[in-house]
Amino acid sequence: MQSLKRTIPVATNNYKNALKNPVFKTVSAAASALGVECYVIGGFVRDFLLERGDAKDIDIVAIGSGIDLAKKVSALLPGKPNVSVFKNYGTAMLKSGGVELEFVGARKESYSEDSRNPVVENGTLQDDQNRRDFTINALAISLNDANYGDLLDPFNGIEDLDSKTIKTPLGPDITYSDDPLRMLRAIRFATQLNFKIDAASIDSITRNADRIKIISKERVVDELHKILAAPVPSVGFALLHKTGLLPLLLPELTALQGVDEKEGQKHKDNFWHTLEVVDNIAKTTDNLWLRWAALLHDIGKAPTKRFDKKVGWTFHAHEFVGSKMVFKLFKRLKMPLNDKMKFVQKMVFMSSRPIVLASDVTDSAVRRLIFDAGEYVEDLMTLCEADITTKNPKKFKKYHNNFQLVREKIVEVEERDSVRNFQPPVSGEEIMSTFGLKPSREIGLIKDAIKEAILEGEIANEYEAAKAFMLIKGEALGLKVAK
Ligand code: CTP
Repeated sequence: MQSLKRTIPVATNNYKNALKNPVFKTVSAAASALGVECYVIGGFVRDFLLERGDAKDIDIVAIGSGIDLAKKVSALLPGKPNVSVFKNYGTAMLKSGGVELEFVGARKESYSEDSRNPVVENGTLQDDQNRRDFTINALAISLNDANYGDLLDPFNGIEDLDSKTIKTPLGPDITYSDDPLRMLRAIRFATQLNFKIDAASIDSITRNADRIKIISKERVVDELHKILAAPVPSVGFALLHKTGLLPLLLPELTALQGVDEKEGQKHKDNFWHTLEVVDNIAKTTDNLWLRWAALLHDIGKAPTKRFDKKVGWTFHAHEFVGSKMVFKLFKRLKMPLNDKMKFVQKMVFMSSRPIVLASDVTDSAVRRLIFDAGEYVEDLMTLCEADITTKNPKKFKKYHNNFQLVREKIVEVEERDSVRNFQPPVSGEEIMSTFGLKPSREIGLIKDAIKEAILEGEIANEYEAAKAFMLIKGEALGLKVAK
């Protein structure tokens, strides 16, 4: 993780160098013209101080109307970019020079005594900072002429950045009840930034975990995506587990936890194994959906677990059961039920295939693997390699070598037979015209027989061989070549 090298001592608290983008001067001029104060706040400031590069989303808080400020800024910018106004939220957004500026008026939230409904009033900068999620996200830099570049940090967020701590500005119960999604955000930031979460927050999240139920699935999934996309996703899933959020969001994973023992035989803890697999795959791919596949590859193991006196613990057909569970899980979380979901299903369904194959790498088995996995055969191999979590170095090496052989064989077979995006070398129309057939069962039988013969290596994947095979097969079915 990057260390915080500050060229300007903290005491001076000036961060003009964060404001190199000329758009800040425009915002400052617009605010002066309107006679309102304004500050850049949140992720942009945090990421600047963490040296994570300039964030493309810039949050501006106005001590007054955010919408009016946005309109004034647009009027001063070349080309007068369009301002999107979200009246209900009192926010406005515009895009300029590759960045997105979001404007909001500072608010103070108070609860009237006889009601739990918040009364939202205009507030000061400090009121607004009080209402933010974490001290590291409440850091603000002034855009006002009088103190341009000054850092306003009432909760010592800068110290929390240094000590890598996620902490709420107010008592955690207040901050998390303001918006329970923040429980997930805390875990997401801890995972993305490699920070720890303050003990009081962990307690509060654990006590309030149930309140995540009131948050929309879309917002929850957004955070899960970000946890999965982090360099070491297991950090987040372990925290979700520890705080009791995981069974509310992904009970299929919680069900994998634990080791059963019968007659001296144990199986591995498939929850912690899964997290290792996810971390492994995160080292080799940014493909979010492949990471989802790694997370879900073993979920079928909980419902299929049996003890067999002869062979010990079994998880028969867990890949098939798991792939069905993927659909239900995606549906429950309102995730897309499109080709992404189908990809994850396919990976889960096929997740043991290369393992079975690795002990005896025949051409036909590899051909079938390529045929079934199609364009995703490399992704499948990546998943299987990530699945190797044995702590025995000899076995580790052996399994990797086996998969290396499978990979080499895939290249070799693919070069020769190209079955990846299999197209029948003889078309249904040609079968019909050859034998003078109308659409009928025989056509399917012949097509299938040709495909099988190719996969088994009996004939090459090419027109002449397939046509000759078609004639033999047709004859065997009692068909005559049409004159
Ligand atoms: N915020 C908050 N509570 C939330 C969401 C956001 O207090 N539930 C505040 C935080 O101050 C945050 C800012 O709004 O920094 C902007 O939110 P967002 O764009 O979601 O997050 P960023 O902090 O910018 O970080 P990232 O872009 O990585 O999500």
